[in-house]
Amino acid sequence: VHADVIAIDGPAASGKSTVARRVAAALGRLYVDSGAVYRAVAWEVNRRGIDPRDARAVSAAAARISIATFAGGGAVRFKVGGIEPGDALRTEEVNAAVSPVAAVPAVRALVTGLLREMPRFGSLVVEGRDIGTAVFPEARAKFYLEASPEERARRRHAESRAAGLSVSAVRDSIGRRDRIDSSRTVAPLSVAPDATVIDTTALSIDEVTDRILKADGIRTLPRPDAGPAARER
Ligand code: DC
Repeated sequence: VHADVIAIDGPAASGKSTVARRVAAALGRLYVDSGAVYRAVAWEVNRRGIDPRDARAVSAAAARISIATFAGGGAVRFKVGGIEPGDALRTEEVNAAVSPVAAVPAVRALVTGLLREMPRFGSLVVEGRDIGTAVFPEARAKFYLEASPEERARRRHAESRAAGLSVSAVRDSIGRRDRIDSSRTVAPLSVAPDATVIDTTALSIDEVTDRILKADGIRTLPRPDAGPAARER
């Protein structure tokens, strides 16, 4: 049972990362960025010179990638081939490759398997696209954040990550990802029937975080696991 998961899903640049980090910190839970794991696979696919749209080659590569997870600094982190990838996952090359790579069933099985092992580190706040629908359908609390395409492009452009791109180029880039993420066969981006939907277009990060922290039952969920894995941190 994964009773200790709070799921936060939504499209690109809907505010999930910032909000999920804050919710995790406020509740003493570990933060998990599932998109970063998909980005790491896409980064590895690029690094090996594989075409991200060649599903067979991507499947074969997924079978040979070794990802090691560990807890530290309030989050569950991971290494690929012994290295924590960090900012290398935030380039336009990775942005362009990640949605087709994440649509490959073998890649989804790999990442979903890693995510489902993570509750052993403690109670989690997991952000992604399919956390409440596919990875942890039994999560105790589920949120789906959305915002208008214009607002999401504006936010992403304001981050240094989008350096060099115009607002409309950022809008096109996240629009392309949303289309692929929503239309893939396995675990597409969609709203879980039992998720609380929050339109963040006109809300600040504090307001969104507050709504989640004030949602029914959030404060009374179990405290972080104090088992051996959690103590080793
Ligand atoms: O959250 P992000 O923008 O870093 O996610 C990058 C990509 O990873 C996203 O466009 C689709 C994929 N992804 C996914 O398919 N399932 C998840 N749970 C998280 C991310």
